[in-house]
Amino acid sequence: MTTEKPSVLVTRKLPQAIEIRLMELFETRLNPTDEPMSAEALIAAADCDVLVPTVTDKLTAPVLGALPGRVKLIANFGVGVDHIDLAAATARGIVVTNTPGVLTEDTADLTMALLLSAPRRMVEGDRLARSGEWVGWTPTFMMGHRVSGKRLGIVGMGRIGTAVARRARGFSMSIHYHNRRRVHREVEAELEATWWEDLDQMLAHMDFISINCPHTSETRHLLSEKRLRSLQPHAYIVNTARGEIIDEAALARCLAEGALAGAGLDVYEREPEIGESLRRLDNAVLAPHLGSATREGRIAMGERVMINIKTFVDGHAPPDRVFPADGL
Ligand code: DGY
Repeated sequence: MTTEKPSVLVTRKLPQAIEIRLMELFETRLNPTDEPMSAEALIAAADCDVLVPTVTDKLTAPVLGALPGRVKLIANFGVGVDHIDLAAATARGIVVTNTPGVLTEDTADLTMALLLSAPRRMVEGDRLARSGEWVGWTPTFMMGHRVSGKRLGIVGMGRIGTAVARRARGFSMSIHYHNRRRVHREVEAELEATWWEDLDQMLAHMDFISINCPHTSETRHLLSEKRLRSLQPHAYIVNTARGEIIDEAALARCLAEGALAGAGLDVYEREPEIGESLRRLDNAVLAPHLGSATREGRIAMGERVMINIKTFVDGHAPPDRVFPADGL
């Protein structure tokens, strides 16, 4: 490090308490306008020891290669690191950290909100209730699908997938999951969860699917058109992980044709752009990437960022280091 206080560049506006503490602890440059930085602007501004980016900064190999040599740590504000080329960072000798654990419960809550609001037609109902055109209760009015007693297939049974499973048990859903590794037998027993080694087999038998795995080169379009079409037509799919895991254009086609009953989405392939074909569908509940968006969660994420920076600059291994091999 070149200065006594390490210099830190923060690319987006963070909660005030975090910004103040970052200013106190380090030689920090903030982004008070919160304007997303272009790759060129980021490279030009990155004359620092530590970079604190977010999901909106694309840290590709060429961008990482163009960063000043003094950048030694990328302390990402967020758990997902698919916007950072981890192999290129490692090759450049840059350590990357993220913020796991602290947004698990919030993301699982939002997953449940989508999982409930899609089949119970909450957003459609809200629109109608506000429109002044509601003509009153009838026995066949706005029927959706029941959640309790249904099978939920969780793709990616890590922290968030497990937290979703716990909540879904509270709604009397039966838990199924596909994961590279089977979870601990005690967790399986607690959740009465069924492990499917074969994703295709699981998909074909579920009433609900929740995507909770990270986006990697292996999981891009994991939910391909073929797989989406293998779901039962009454099935709902919820995605609070990353948009790239589902073929979004194919999903819109399946929803429009009735090949799937509905979807609850928080993430998209080309954020913040959401295709018109998806936006016009009544059977898709769309949230603007809100998974971790609670005041408490965002402060906790900021605290993890600071712990990672402090331990790194003090010469220790930061607790949330991410390695290129980390996958599902
Ligand atoms: C996360 O933490 O990964 C959120 O999706 C924002 O990046």
